[in-house]
Amino acid sequence: MTKVINTINDDILSENICFIPTMGAIHEGHLSLVDIGKETNLKTLVSIFLNRRQFNNDDDFKNYPIEHEQDIQFLKSRGVDFIFLPQDSYIYPSEGVPSIVPSKVGSILEGASRPGHFEGVLTVVNRLFDLIKPSHAVFGKKDAQQLFLIKDMVSRLDLNIEIIEGEIFRDINGLALSSRNKHLSHDAKLIAANIFKSLQKVSKEINLGKSFEESVELGINSLNQNEIDLDYLEIVDEENFNYPNKYSKKLKLLTAAYVENVRLIDNIDIEI
Ligand code: PAF
Repeated sequence: MTKVINTINDDILSENICFIPTMGAIHEGHLSLVDIGKETNLKTLVSIFLNRRQFNNDDDFKNYPIEHEQDIQFLKSRGVDFIFLPQDSYIYPSEGVPSIVPSKVGSILEGASRPGHFEGVLTVVNRLFDLIKPSHAVFGKKDAQQLFLIKDMVSRLDLNIEIIEGEIFRDINGLALSSRNKHLSHDAKLIAANIFKSLQKVSKEINLGKSFEESVELGINSLNQNEIDLDYLEIVDEENFNYPNKYSKKLKLLTAAYVENVRLIDNIDIEI
């Protein structure tokens, strides 16, 4: 039986919790993280909290889809134990919530385009960790930079929480699922599917031995041809998010782009 709660009580604190944080507008990508959580055999707790502090753009915040009734139905059907739907004032009482400043990786890529975003993310995730005290937490790899910074925060603050990573969930055409996709028309979804195709193209070129610069350039050209308004397409070493060097083993190619004014992010792992 799923319980919907607005505060964390001692019953929850007495359980070993696998925590899956969300901002709602639940889709199959979130539900795949829930399934991973359930495999731990711990009690699963999904939070739905639209965190104002991680939006650097008012319109983006105001337009973020809110679908609590449907979210609850989806999560119940997946057998989640607790759905945590807190009020703003519970997460952010007037004092006592420390702001968590990200390490320097927080100021590149998404951080450069959305100043303050990662401070907002880390602050709320740390606050939720502090309230829920989970032993495990599941985050999706679509938000690769967020995942990197959360793991970094867990290590810096010496939090005893195991971070589990969920693979990117894609639609049949390869578009990574995101709550923001709800704002895309059918045609825009087809256009947006070219984002993943371009990432695959770059990955293939690198594996064929083309230089990073040339391969990324090719990806940029391919995105630009597809009515996609590119913000960035960059390659980093997965270990540290620095530009890769000859010792790099695993790379990540990350992109952010707009289709019909909707900001979409995606990434792909490249083994070399
Ligand atoms: O990835 C998200 O949905 C959010 O950034 C998170 C982790 C729930 C924090 O608000």
